[in-house]
Amino acid sequence: MKVLLNILILWLFEHSTEQSQITFNFALRGWKLVFGKVLLHVEKVTNPPDCIKECLVFGPEECKSVNFNPSRKICQLMDENAGELDEKKFQKGEEWLHFGQKEKQAECKERNGTKKCCILTNQLQCKQPIDCNEIKQSFETYESGFYSLEGQSNPVYCNFHAIDCNEIKQSCETCQSDFYSLEGQSSPVYCNFDDGNLISCEGLKERNASPLESGFYTVGQGGDVVTFYCDMITDNGGWLMVANVTVKTESEKSVRHYDSVKQNGIQSLVNVANGAYALSLETLQEMVSTHGFSELRIKCYKDWSGYQVHVVLSYLQRLFVMEVTYPTPSEYRFLDDDQTSSMSWAAGGKFTQYYPTGTGVGGSVYDHQIYISGTWHILIMQYPWGSNPRMECGDNSQLSGFTSVGHWEFYVR
Ligand SMILES: *[C@@H]1O[C@H](CO)[C@@H](O)[C@H](O)[C@H]1NC(C)=O
Ligand SMILES: *[C@@H]1O[C@H](CO)[C@@H](O)[C@H](O)[C@H]1NC(C)=O
Repeated sequence: MKVLLNILILWLFEHSTEQSQITFNFALRGWKLVFGKVLLHVEKVTNPPDCIKECLVFGPEECKSVNFNPSRKICQLMDENAGELDEKKFQKGEEWLHFGQKEKQAECKERNGTKKCCILTNQLQCKQPIDCNEIKQSFETYESGFYSLEGQSNPVYCNFHAIDCNEIKQSCETCQSDFYSLEGQSSPVYCNFDDGNLISCEGLKERNASPLESGFYTVGQGGDVVTFYCDMITDNGGWLMVANVTVKTESEKSVRHYDSVKQNGIQSLVNVANGAYALSLETLQEMVSTHGFSELRIKCYKDWSGYQVHVVLSYLQRLFVMEVTYPTPSEYRFLDDDQTSSMSWAAGGKFTQYYPTGTGVGGSVYDHQIYISGTWHILIMQYPWGSNPRMECGDNSQLSGFTSVGHWEFYVR
């Protein structure tokens, strides 16, 4: 009978897929669990791991804990688990060891207005939560408030129910502008409680002592939550991306020019990620006037020419005025990775800057912001206005070999 059982156990063990779901993280010396039934009494077991293995064979539904007696080499598989020393469930017995499962536990104590939490790990150690999300996952009931978080010197206010920064401010008067976790947002949101508009990468950069990385930032102001891309590196950073367009084939130009990719409203800024996006000139003009942005940076690249244009224009605000202006050389700068000086068709000197079209509100932002007459242009618009899509990047559709395939990025600061 015993041989048969051993064979059965061996078979079960090898075929058990659930063995890893059970963790014996609770051990007691000098006690034996007497609560519940002994499922199996196994002899000649020489060490605790072998005893636990016998239990795993039954799976977590059956065997829940074990008593082991090293000197008598007895292993008892129990159908109950205590998880803590409860003298009603245990019997003293010096020779015995008990192994069971302690549930992952978490507890918070309020001290001086700050909640200090202990999340029990599988190794039975206390660990501090690393962010507000972990608190939410570890506790059945959680309240908004200040928490001590791992690696943070100051308590962090976790609001588990707020959907915008207004609600944070209402529930926490002392809260300062900072990153907060908001319901429904996957990454922390910078809540701006100060005066002024912060849908600005330069503004974020200035308010943070430590350098910020390039990437998407989410800023909450009042009831608005806006996500946008910041380049925090190029030319000292602080650049907010307002257009990102890629043309992969010649025919794609008809669905990638400004009129087909433009979107209204600052909430749409997150869509730069799609590579078929330009903030509408109407919204852009509004932003430029509320934020006082003054610079436009254009980075574009053409496959056929192999040239990259990378230029900073400091006359962004004038690009919304429909009149011909001649920028002075101090108002534009080509960055180090700009390659236009070596363009064969632009040989013979630096560029004449000119932006004559201004067709419609702010037309020039995406249309002939700089150009050399008859030689090269930058535009991602239908030109003449509303007809022929022209996707140009330091080139010109009259040049032989010209194709529209390329990539354009527009930033403001
Ligand atoms: C409690 O908070 C006050 C004011 O913030 C501070 O001065 C005091 O040191 C704190 N006490 C402890 C035990 O942290
Ligand atoms: C711009 O679009 C391209 C696809 O054309 C994409 O790979 C890239 O990540 C986008 N840039 C940003 C900052 O989202």
